[in-house]
Amino acid sequence: MRYDVPVQAAHIRPLNVLKDLFPVADLIESCFAGTLDPDGRDYLRHIRKSAADPSILRWMTGPSERISTPLHGYVWEEDRRLIGNISLIPIYRGGKWIYLIANVAVHPDFRRRGIARQLTLRALEHIRSHGATAAWLQVRSDNPAAYQLYLETGFVERSRRTTWVGNGDSGMMVDTHPLISPRRRGDWAWQERWLQELYPPEVSWNLSFDLRHFNPHWWYSALRWLNGDEQNHWVLRQPQTGQPLGFASWEPSASYADHVWIATSDQYERYALKYLLPQVRHSLYHRHRPTSINFPAGRAEDNFREAGFHVLNTLVWMEHPMPENVF
Ligand SMILES: CC(C)(COP(=O)(O)OP(=O)(O)OC[C@H]1O[C@@H](n2cnc3c(N)ncnc32)[C@H](O)[C@@H]1OP(=O)(O)O)[C@@H](O)C(=O)NCCC(=O)NCCS
Repeated sequence: MRYDVPVQAAHIRPLNVLKDLFPVADLIESCFAGTLDPDGRDYLRHIRKSAADPSILRWMTGPSERISTPLHGYVWEEDRRLIGNISLIPIYRGGKWIYLIANVAVHPDFRRRGIARQLTLRALEHIRSHGATAAWLQVRSDNPAAYQLYLETGFVERSRRTTWVGNGDSGMMVDTHPLISPRRRGDWAWQERWLQELYPPEVSWNLSFDLRHFNPHWWYSALRWLNGDEQNHWVLRQPQTGQPLGFASWEPSASYADHVWIATSDQYERYALKYLLPQVRHSLYHRHRPTSINFPAGRAEDNFREAGFHVLNTLVWMEHPMPENVF
């Protein structure tokens, strides 16, 4: 087992946000150049802005690392040159601390020397010693090198999800299906169950998905109204009974694409998507914003393509459980 390899600490040290942020941003940019999406570019801008602003840095270097900044971790330095990085993001979830590992990057001239493996092992040691119950990370499905590295350091695959994107500038004029209608109060039991199946906790915790956003109960509706939250639902119904067969629910987002969440059963999935996806494209055309849908990888791909969606990425979620830290 490769994860028994001892950590050789000589070149590894904790990230120092006061001096490492610019070189870390440069390293991430050069290592991920081909795969950065608009959110990734925003993230780099955010790191560089933080590096340039002493007031943000003072706040970030406080006593606790359990704040929501991605700027803890370890770097690999040789001859004062920063050539490797791993970021650690602590997250409080379900009453427990877990860590997200991100930005694993090694300068191209220094690869295949075991640097990423040793950074990963050091990060796992850190996470274990901080009492967390698990480490998580995501890796693109078209990155077998990194996937192999994580398998060898003890991670196991938990889920594989594709993000489909429909560009806002190619709205489709479609024959909308006569059986698509707005949501009714009695639909929630179906929608709630299917949303939970398609976005289970092990997937939804890292998406900006919150089941409560869609609950039609007056209390949640009042909260949405007070917050000025927008949303829209399209429901495909069974012709004879009017029973829901599938839902598409839209909400705007602060990221570069708005979100649409799908709720349907295995049985109706393809039929529901065939009609709901063109309806979504058609109805959201006026917004001139991309729409993104997170969906289990390898499922209903024809439906998404036929409705004009393309793959942004397929991410594999991997977990390194730490049962010794579960009390
Ligand atoms: C992925 C990456 C971090 C690996 O860094 P590295 O220091 O070269 O990796 P290591 O030398 O520690 O390799 C550890 C193991 O990972 C696997 N691996 C790493 N690079 C590989 C490659 N190019 N092809 C196949 N396997 C590879 C191997 O199993 C390797 O063990 P081995 O060398 O004994 O066969 C580096 O290639 C990189 O920065 N890539 C671009 C950014 C990136 O994709 N980051 C991961 C995001 S999830």
